[in-house]
Amino acid sequence: MLVRRPEIPIKTAFEIQRMREAGQIAAIVLKRMVALVAPDINTYDLDQEGRRLIESLGAKSACFNYKVDEKHYPAYTCISINEEVVHGIGNLNRVVKAGDCVSLDVVVSYEGFIGDNAKTVLVEPVSDDVRHLVYTTGKALYRAIKLAAKPGKRVGHISHAIQSFIEVNHLSVVRDFVGHGVGRSMHEEPPIPNLGSRKSGPVLKPGMTLAIEPMVNLGSYVVEIAEDGWTVLTRDRKPSAHFEHTVLIGPKEAEILTTAS
Ligand code: MF3
Ligand code: CO
Repeated sequence: MLVRRPEIPIKTAFEIQRMREAGQIAAIVLKRMVALVAPDINTYDLDQEGRRLIESLGAKSACFNYKVDEKHYPAYTCISINEEVVHGIGNLNRVVKAGDCVSLDVVVSYEGFIGDNAKTVLVEPVSDDVRHLVYTTGKALYRAIKLAAKPGKRVGHISHAIQSFIEVNHLSVVRDFVGHGVGRSMHEEPPIPNLGSRKSGPVLKPGMTLAIEPMVNLGSYVVEIAEDGWTVLTRDRKPSAHFEHTVLIGPKEAEILTTAS
């Protein structure tokens, strides 16, 4: 049987303009939070700074109160250190230290549209392994946007670009969480896995807005959920990295909407 998925929204010129604004706010907040990551800051304070930054720009956190199977996300941003893959909740007892890699994920809602971006930062000095992990994950995102986020390609081209680059670099892609369409809601069609065949998934068209977000582990791809019900951890407790941009599929190539300029 042919299973048809719900349609992927194509944004109008008006919606694209609003998405640019939401993306820019998300990017500014992320950039300012990145600047605060240093030894001795705790992740509760960092999250509260994120909340203040989002509100000072006239936006709201799209994470706060976000509901997944009866649970409501309790923080304003996601802060995930080392073996924490994504969705880490700010905590006064979780203190940043030298050698850590810290993933920040900022999702804002502005005038009814969502901007979603993430970045992993190094707290020097870090091991060569962690540097390789973080550098390669960032590069995988930019490479996939450049090579595969184009009209006429499939979502699977993005997935394959990420997976192949990560695996030649002896790292593993997380299988249980995916990128996604983004727009008036944080999660729209289509899902964007970080692995798969170039023949898979829908064909990309101008006007689609997508959140592409490789989550990459230094060790095994296997993950589990922490006792808090949200934080995703590597099962082997080796470090993980996460980069994300919201992009617009343009007439010829992708435009990154989450740039701070
Ligand atoms: N970038 C993440 C995502 O796309 C942010 C979600 S955090 C949550 O799923 F708290 F809202 F779940
Ligand atoms: Co996302």
